[in-house]
Order: sequence, then C-alpha cells, then structure tokens
Amino acid sequence: MKRNYLESTDSTNRYIKRFLSQGEDVAVFAKRQTGGMGTKGRSFLSEAGGVYLSVLSFYQDFPAERAFELMAHAAVAVCRTCRGFGLAPEIKWCNDVLVNGRKIAGILIENTLSGGKVRASIVGIGLNVSNALDGLGGIAVNMRELLPAPPAVEAVRDLLLENFAAPSDFSDYLGFAGFLGQCVSVTEGDLQYDAVARDILPDGRLLIEERGKLRALSSAEIAIKIR
Ligand code: BTN
Repeated sequence: MKRNYLESTDSTNRYIKRFLSQGEDVAVFAKRQTGGMGTKGRSFLSEAGGVYLSVLSFYQDFPAERAFELMAHAAVAVCRTCRGFGLAPEIKWCNDVLVNGRKIAGILIENTLSGGKVRASIVGIGLNVSNALDGLGGIAVNMRELLPAPPAVEAVRDLLLENFAAPSDFSDYLGFAGFLGQCVSVTEGDLQYDAVARDILPDGRLLIEERGKLRALSSAEIAIKIR
C-alpha cells in the first residue's frame, strides 16, 4: 500500500479524500493535525507525538450490512498495537480503545456507499503515544504515562499499519471487549440508565440487559462502571 507521511495537516481523514478518485488503497500519516475530527462532529486533539493515520481502501463487493467489520478490524489493530508495547487495552463499544479505563485511541470511519455496498472506506485512527493531552481532564491517556520507557512514535506508527494489514475476525474484537458481562451506564439521548452489557452483535449493536429484558442498541454511549 502506498504511504504518505505528512508533517502536519488539518485532518488525515480530510486529506486522504483527494485519493478517492484514484481507486488505489493508500495510507496517510501526519505528525500532528490542526483540525482532527472525532465522531459525532467532535474534534480530536492531535498534538505532535501521537499517531494520526487514515487508510483508504476500495472494495468490489462489500455489503453495507457488514460495514461494522471495518470498525471491528481497526479496533483490533489498535489493541494489538497497544499490546505489542506491553499494555492491556480494552475496547469500549464501539470505537474507543482504553487502557486502565482511560482513552488511548479513537477511530473515525467514513464510508462511501452505493447500491447497498461499501465502495470505499476511510479508517482514521488517532493513537496517543507521547502527545500532550492538556485540557481533557484525565479521560485520555498516552503511552508515555503508562510505560516506563515510551516507544518512539515511528515504531508505534509502523506496528499499527502492520496490524491493520493483518487479518482479524469478529471474535478478536470480542476478545478485547472486556466490559461484556459488566454493569455499564448507558446514555441514549436524554435518557441515562444502568444496564448489563451482554454482547456485541456482528452488525455492531450492543446487546444490553436492563431490568431482566434484552435490548440491542445501535447508537448510545456507554460508560464502564468502576469494577
Ligand atoms: C473519536 O474518538 O472520536 C475518533 C477520533 C479519530 C481520530 C483520527 S486521527 C486520524 C484521523 N483523522 C481525523 O481527523 N480523525 C481520525
């Protein structure tokens, strides 16, 4: 896969869109982003010292119903990378990777769909290595804070792309979802309640048990309760 290494850009997800017309898979890394994009229209703090990667992939026959596999695959690649540096990562449904309950990475996926198929996907990953996280109030963490000797950002970057290129399956994703079976606090719009997280379905919905009833959630936020 072609690779582009940038010093700085507003957002690697935005930058990589210039390759959409070319039909060839490509990866873009930036040392920092000035307008990093998160999910739900949020911004993603992207100071130098983190890994900011977007991968553009094209597909011939990828049913849109299976789009969650792209998220699962990216999350597994991030977890394997963290584990490769001695950390114990966990997936927080559906697109965050945590270590010790704090967010070390986020994933933003933008798909191009037509005729019920995913034609192209942009998988954007931000992974905190030694980048400053000022102003996030301790909800985020980087490798420097967790490890006695933090790795070089280039080593993390290269392992992340290597893991991204390796196969994974849904059971690998579930294997990193350590919160399953635990009580979580669910926020669904204005509603907030406690439930037990039972499973993640292959289409990405979270199966929760609330007051004895099972329900599959497609969009909500969860906070993992202290164990
Ligand atoms: C989130 O946690 O809300 C998702 C964050 C995704 C951040 C990555 S960094 C590389 C790529 N470029 C972006 O602008 N966003 C993604």
